[in-house]
Amino acid sequence: MKLGILTGGGDCPGLNAVIRAAVKMAAGQGIETVGIRDGFKGLIEGNFLPLGPREVQGILPKGGTILGTSNRDNPFHFRRVVGGVESHRDESGVLLQNAAAAGLERIIVIGGDGTMHIGDKLAGLGLGIVGVPKTIDNDLAATDVTFGFQTAVETATEAIDRLHTTAESHHRVMILELMGRDAGFIALYAGIAGGADVILIPEIPFTVEGILEKVYERAKAGRHFSIVVVAEGCLYEGQAVARETNEGNDYNALRLGGIGEVLRREIMAKGGPEARNTVLGHLQRGGSPVAFDRVLASRYGVAAVEAALAGKDRHMVCLCNGEISVVELEKALERLKTVDPGGNLVATARGLGISFGEEAAG
Ligand code: F6P
Repeated sequence: MKLGILTGGGDCPGLNAVIRAAVKMAAGQGIETVGIRDGFKGLIEGNFLPLGPREVQGILPKGGTILGTSNRDNPFHFRRVVGGVESHRDESGVLLQNAAAAGLERIIVIGGDGTMHIGDKLAGLGLGIVGVPKTIDNDLAATDVTFGFQTAVETATEAIDRLHTTAESHHRVMILELMGRDAGFIALYAGIAGGADVILIPEIPFTVEGILEKVYERAKAGRHFSIVVVAEGCLYEGQAVARETNEGNDYNALRLGGIGEVLRREIMAKGGPEARNTVLGHLQRGGSPVAFDRVLASRYGVAAVEAALAGKDRHMVCLCNGEISVVELEKALERLKTVDPGGNLVATARGLGISFGEEAAG
């Protein structure tokens, strides 16, 4: 058997650890592995990279992906620009031909929900697909946790720690906008870990008045600064705040971002203290994976090869109650995971006195 490996969608820390684990595991079983460059685009263009234990030496701690990735190359709606003119075509036929010509019976597809949806469609056309769940957003329901998430939380927590000292010195409200798309996991975990005063997540509606209540409560207690952590997917007055529509991106219709600045202006416009906004952005996706993500990514890489050997096509490896197993891709994609507003994490935050920006009743 010859195994293909590709990384799709946005990158995240730990992708290289999965690639390394899969290549080492396969080599131990006498199986050849081939890297596919830049996500599904590499399969359409026949852009391959032979992968053996030598090629994956030293990549465990490296962020990003040695294969390259893309969140703009959906083979069923593939974009080409010829002479400045853009057109889209279904190139899945070419992709299947190239995979067959390269002798790739099965492909390990490392990606988030967008990549898995494409993988599932290709599996429906007969290509052997084994999925590996990645995303800093941690929004895949079929797995306890995705790799990359813990590293993003560490980075965000460090940012909150740094904001604390400057917030206190200047008696300011410091806002930190974090990624996560429609799920508030990064904001919630980092907010608790960093001791935020207000955490705003898409799952719990808030108002600026609610934020200010907490800010004033703290001021009354002699704490003349506050840290507000806001997830990029929070709605403001019922609307998502986006930098732009995501032209050419078949994964996300909107490029989210900007809620922090909206809140900064509103807090000051409503008579609140001086406020500043920081957008942590892609720093959350960069850099070396933390140990937890390296271990999880390694477990997923080994398990993906085991699943391929066992003929578990159209499945995704996952962490289920702490144990590695596999789930049917279709089932894995049934729904996205979001924060449970009635769950223990939110209750913990409330127990700590953290506000979710809701106004006190009455
Ligand atoms: O899904 C991962 C993620 O980092 C989201 O948290 C964020 O909204 C999006 O990707 C950003 O995508 P891009 O790299 O295309 O700006």
